[in-house]
Amino acid sequence: MGGKCLALYSGTSNPELAQEVAKYLGVELGEIEIRRFSDGEIYARIVKSVRGSEVYVIQSLGNPVNEFFMELLIIIDALRRASAEEVTAVIPYFAYARQDRKTKSREPISAKLIANLLTIAGASRVVTMDLHAGQIQGFFDIPVDNLSALPLFTRYFQDLDLYNPVVVSPDIGGVARARSLANRLHTPLAIIYKRRPAPEVAEVDEIIGDVKNRDVIICDDIITTGNTLFSAARLLRERGARDIYSAVTHGILVNNAPEELQKSELKELVVTNTIPIGEDKKVPKLKILSVGSLLGEAIKRISNKDSLSSLFD
Ligand code: R5P
Repeated sequence: MGGKCLALYSGTSNPELAQEVAKYLGVELGEIEIRRFSDGEIYARIVKSVRGSEVYVIQSLGNPVNEFFMELLIIIDALRRASAEEVTAVIPYFAYARQDRKTKSREPISAKLIANLLTIAGASRVVTMDLHAGQIQGFFDIPVDNLSALPLFTRYFQDLDLYNPVVVSPDIGGVARARSLANRLHTPLAIIYKRRPAPEVAEVDEIIGDVKNRDVIICDDIITTGNTLFSAARLLRERGARDIYSAVTHGILVNNAPEELQKSELKELVVTNTIPIGEDKKVPKLKILSVGSLLGEAIKRISNKDSLSSLFD
């Protein structure tokens, strides 16, 4: 790989994924001492020298998001103070991305704050995946590589024998993503009109496009409570859809979302492991694809100064 010495580190949020990436790259994860003081403060120390190195730190921002984010900032700070030459924050799930604009007076733009904090801590580049809104890249003045899980979903659904498939966006904001999956699978697109009368409440009542007597793939970036997805699936069933699948990159799956998935109209929900999914959440309708090789290949190409776009063609 590149000229400088490459070092890979992991925070505590997704060690299994970090191990997969390390295996793909044929390197060992760097040793890092991470502990909590009794008052909750985080301590992180890089055990071996990283002077002059090109360092990648893998830390996903699942739940508890604030703990994992602060841990990431502290690791980056430690690396910079240890004279790492470049520090790339590899953030498979970039939290706070849904707070990317003001919709009411006196609201924060938390995604911009997160970008500022990462830069101030010393990140020289960010690698992430299926950002909720691609324009968040513009909140940074350092390079951001926004990878996509769509090639994984494409391969997965190509191998299923779907009848007259159509890709559905569960809201207007997700149309570009769903359109991209539809193009890859050579299917038409349908769009659901979703309203949010209150935070984490989803009301869906209209579909633009033809779903009757077709297998359906609902494409989204995040599932948190599942309200969006399960209500979309109910509406699609009412409108005559056949088997209903869903492809969602980030499976946060809070509270009883896994049980609700099992009871829902969905035949299968396909997510990735950007966020670790505990055994208690692994219900039969949930299928998990790994992004380990994709992240590993992206790191390899960044290090070799090769193009990333061909990964997604
Ligand atoms: C919203 O715009 C996102 O793309 C997801 O549709 C949403 O965040 C999913 O959240 P939940 O599962 O809580 O409905």
